[in-house]
Amino acid sequence: MYNIIALASGNGSNVQAIIDAIAAEKCPVHLSAVITDNPDAYVLKRAEAAGIPTFVLKPYPKESSSAFNERLAHLLRALQCDLIVLAGYMRILSPALVREFEGHLINIHPALLPKYKGLDTHTRVLAAKDAVHGATVHFVSEGVDDGAIIAQTEVEVKPYDTVDTLRKRVLSREHKLYPQVITWFAHGKVQLKDGKVSVGGVPGGVKVSF
Ligand code: GRF
Repeated sequence: MYNIIALASGNGSNVQAIIDAIAAEKCPVHLSAVITDNPDAYVLKRAEAAGIPTFVLKPYPKESSSAFNERLAHLLRALQCDLIVLAGYMRILSPALVREFEGHLINIHPALLPKYKGLDTHTRVLAAKDAVHGATVHFVSEGVDDGAIIAQTEVEVKPYDTVDTLRKRVLSREHKLYPQVITWFAHGKVQLKDGKVSVGGVPGGVKVSF
């Protein structure tokens, strides 16, 4: 069975969407562990409720990022998996860790990359008066939110939207997009070669509508 591990720091609604898709037999993978850097993260409760092993790994006081990431890499190596899924993991991974797991490390970002890398994407979309917003699943590279794009889904920005209404609309699409992309991985449909993605043999990232 295709084996995945999720890394999350907070609420974990994307991890929940993956758990639910697996339970509904829509996503043919085994979620073998959830790792968090936040002992209070709600994602721990979600994973425990689903019977998924959890690991809390947070930096020691004054621990360097590279030392912390080496501990994380050690755990990932020990657990072994086909794909590492970042789902609201709020720490930047070290270049060494990214290189070690290249091609097996993906993230979901609440914007249509390459627009709006980083935080507060919904606020920035509203300030720019964009008509279209969305979410992106991409390979993780050394630059933040900069890796090759695998798939995107668009949502309309409505005139009455607030950060909260927009965040909810994008998040509900994320919950469909992430299990879909993970399913493609399990079926061997996503390839990364020389920094370029192909999905089902078609070069480039794909636009998905739900
Ligand atoms: C999502 O918007 C995801 O795109 C971003 O962090 C948020 C995590 O939400 N990377 P949740 O913890 O999955 O509810």
